[in-house]
Amino acid sequence: MKFSVSALVALGALASSVQAIDLNPDDVQSIKKAASIAAKGLRKWYTGDRPGDTPGNLPDPYYWWEAGAMFGAFIDYWYYTGDTTYNAITKQALIHQIGDYQAFMPPNQTRTLGNDDQAFWGMAALTAAEDKFPDPAEGEAPSWLSLAQAVFNTQQRRWDNATCGGGLKWQIFPFNNGYNYKNTISNGCFFNIAARLAKYTGNETYSTWAERAWNWERAIGLMSPEYYFYDGTDDRKNCSEVDHHQWTYNAGVHMAGAAAMWNLTQSDPSRERLWRERLAGVIKSIDIFFHREVKDVMVEVACEFNNKCNNDQRSFKAYLSRWMGYTMQVAPWTVGDLMPKLRTSAVAAAKQCNAEGEAQTCGLRWYTNGQNDGSFGPGEQMSAMEVFQNLLIKEVPGPVTLNNGGISKSNPEAGSEEQHLPTNLDDVTTGDKAGAGILTTVVLVGILGGAWWMVS
Ligand SMILES: *[C@@H]1O[C@H](CO)[C@@H](O)[C@H](O)[C@H]1NC(C)=O
Ligand SMILES: *[C@@H]1O[C@H](CO)[C@@H](O)[C@H](O)[C@H]1NC(C)=O
Ligand SMILES: *[C@@H]1O[C@H](CO)[C@@H](O)[C@H](O)[C@H]1NC(C)=O
Ligand SMILES: *[C@@H]1O[C@H](CO)[C@@H](O)[C@H](O)[C@H]1NC(C)=O
Ligand SMILES: *[C@@H]1O[C@H](CO)[C@@H](O)[C@H](O)[C@H]1NC(C)=O
Repeated sequence: MKFSVSALVALGALASSVQAIDLNPDDVQSIKKAASIAAKGLRKWYTGDRPGDTPGNLPDPYYWWEAGAMFGAFIDYWYYTGDTTYNAITKQALIHQIGDYQAFMPPNQTRTLGNDDQAFWGMAALTAAEDKFPDPAEGEAPSWLSLAQAVFNTQQRRWDNATCGGGLKWQIFPFNNGYNYKNTISNGCFFNIAARLAKYTGNETYSTWAERAWNWERAIGLMSPEYYFYDGTDDRKNCSEVDHHQWTYNAGVHMAGAAAMWNLTQSDPSRERLWRERLAGVIKSIDIFFHREVKDVMVEVACEFNNKCNNDQRSFKAYLSRWMGYTMQVAPWTVGDLMPKLRTSAVAAAKQCNAEGEAQTCGLRWYTNGQNDGSFGPGEQMSAMEVFQNLLIKEVPGPVTLNNGGISKSNPEAGSEEQHLPTNLDDVTTGDKAGAGILTTVVLVGILGGAWWMVS
């Protein structure tokens, strides 16, 4: 399938009679309505709350991490719109997936559990704390904040000085494929969680680790001097070679963390200046994720044009949208740069939510002047929902902190039970082994071989 802009414009004219989502970005009710239509479409993909199914899982072939991302999106959905429709399934899922060490390490996921997967659930819990999503009852489950702290604590202990001068590996367990890959999203999520925990709690330990992760990524070249974020690097070669694919979510996860760091360094002029410069740099670098001809419309450049976005990648624009919203809330001086891009992208996305006359179904490509590209799934749906709902940043007070409105209980020691991870597959119980080793291989092939586009 090849798309040329002019052909799509022509098709778009034909398609305009088909019902799409009608979005007026100046009208709060219109934005809420658009978000609720996209949310309904996303919810349809989720079956985990059905009797006999597992709360927190999306059906195959969608991975566990994407479900964690989806519940993070639903928490923000509630926060931005006030619609409580998905709160119950969200709470049930987060609690069911807490797993070992109360750190989002459920044994069923052992065979594919990467630091990034765990982190997407941890970031959902952190969002719950920042948004004041009500904590579970005492004795029901740990607080949202402490779950995020548990993810941080377990990952901080995995910081690996043995090669490359540091960094987190992609995979947690040595017997899984991808254990030798130090990838940007794992380190970026760790940075994001550390920075947001630092902002939330004021604890310097977190900001020290956030700086360490950022500096390491920069030193090893996962981040370029111009703030382009690449995919990852092989630690068997001491991280001397970098895979240069660029994804929206890597830019987004760092943007939000840098915004949190800027926000919390206000009393220290030199650090404030440093983080302002870094955040401004990331914001400039995301230009590559906006269409050259169809101005300000977000594109997953590495895979949309060549039609190679896998299921994971189809959801990535959701996270860049989410983190643009977060950034504008905690660093308001970024609104002038970010809001026009988000608005234009949202309007473009809404226009193509019209698959077979069904406004609930959104496609992958947004630059098509209303022509639905026939691609659909939870990733496409979540991306549309996020790009709509993040237009509502002015309707909410912004993320709380422990001393300023926060209600989620802190437990800095959370997750410390995890000391010795199994290093050998034989130490893992049979049930855990039944996971999806094969699927990891597919992910690896997808990431290393799936896309040709790169900027270096
Ligand atoms: C693990 O899998 C079993 C069997 O499918 C299921 O009953 C259980 O709920 C799952 N647990 C989690 C945390 O996913
Ligand atoms: C690895 O380096 C970090 C940062 O310098 C340090 O805090 C940590 O203790 C080191 N870990 C090990 C196992 O040496
Ligand atoms: C591996 O990379 C780190 C970080 O760049 C560097 O400090 C170290 O000297 C390298 N080790 C070897 C053996 O090349
Ligand atoms: C820091 O973030 C909070 C929201 O969490 C926001 O209210 C505040 O204005 C931000 N600080 C600055 C200096 O912009
Ligand atoms: C700050 O965080 C660290 C790491 O989790 C923890 O050990 C320490 O107790 C915390 N300090 C305070 C004052 O909460």
